[in-house]
Amino acid sequence: LTISSSAVGQEADVLRAQLSRFEAAHSPLRVEIRATPDAADERHQLYVQWLNAHAPDPDVLQLDVVWTAEFAAAGWILNLDRFSPATDDFFPAAITATRWNGATYALPWYVDVGMLYWRRDLLSAPPRTLDELDRMASSAVQGGKTRFGFVWQGARYEGLVTVFLEFLTAYGGHIFDADGRVVVDSEEAVRALTFMRNEIVQRHTVPPAVLAWQEEQVRFAFQNGDALFMRNWPYASRLLERPADSRVAGHVGVAPMPSTPDGTSAAALGGAQLAINAHSDRAEDAYTLIAFLTAPEQMRERTRGTGQWPARRALYEDGTLQDALGVDVASAKDIVEHAVPRPVTPIYAEASEILQVDLHRALTGQAEPRAALHDASVAMQKLLDESGLRSR
Ligand code: GLC
Repeated sequence: LTISSSAVGQEADVLRAQLSRFEAAHSPLRVEIRATPDAADERHQLYVQWLNAHAPDPDVLQLDVVWTAEFAAAGWILNLDRFSPATDDFFPAAITATRWNGATYALPWYVDVGMLYWRRDLLSAPPRTLDELDRMASSAVQGGKTRFGFVWQGARYEGLVTVFLEFLTAYGGHIFDADGRVVVDSEEAVRALTFMRNEIVQRHTVPPAVLAWQEEQVRFAFQNGDALFMRNWPYASRLLERPADSRVAGHVGVAPMPSTPDGTSAAALGGAQLAINAHSDRAEDAYTLIAFLTAPEQMRERTRGTGQWPARRALYEDGTLQDALGVDVASAKDIVEHAVPRPVTPIYAEASEILQVDLHRALTGQAEPRAALHDASVAMQKLLDESGLRSR
């Protein structure tokens, strides 16, 4: 059997340990890991090449939550209903992302939520509003306390869309309205993108370098002690506490992303799921492996090892993960339950690419936020209309 997986931080070690246990229990089955690129979009591209070529390998695929609908609609991954998976314990939004056309195509592995990391040695409490964040970041930079105020994922890739979604929600905006029409050029959206751009070009609290940074570059800057705030996923919290690598170990707090009076504090909902390659010749074994990896015991172990948050609700309530999430478990559960999912649609990757280009144009000063969002909105609506699909 083969499984494709990411190997950021401790992920590979935890997975290897779990696969050895699986092999011992299912001898003579052997499982090999196929390494994949860290960057979400590069991994997506590699998967499209494999699956489009009908390669039987890897049997089990680690999917980003935003790919399942696309791969299911393309016939690239198996409908898992034949295995009657029990899905009650998973967060409903995580399950929604595993479904297409009324069927289940993947099982949730972990959930990701965008969080604000802050420096406890420099602040007594985290900001609750974006205004407060801006003031704190400016004064830290002007007072020479940190090189940068705030760092986030600003490269032109999927991560930028998740960061934008958090600012957008903080300003009360949405990508789609309740009827599935694209509303990413609303006044709220213009304000959100203008705030992001001004932090770079006017306020100098966010370094222009972020426009080329993904998760890991952002983490490196923060763990070197260069920034007062960082936006990142939960995996970072464990790594920031390793004194050998991190200058800020013992000084990091984790809080929800700040908001404005017009919107709500929100995390973008990310995470990974496990699915079976439709051309795998070992579907039964592949499902046995998926059931094993997503079982409570392995999920708990993964959380302890990697800091990634479990996709099963019961694990937030059984008292076993008290100190494992970077924030207390009750708040963590609440953050996941209120996290903002990205649209579940087979054309997600194409729509996101349009948005990425226009967001990045605005942030690099090649277009005004209003014009960039207008362009994105027109192109995304056209894509949606031509696809004959409606987004939910
Ligand atoms: C994380 C999230 C994923 C998101 C990606 C963006 O891997 O789990 O959902 O798309 O980051 O970079």
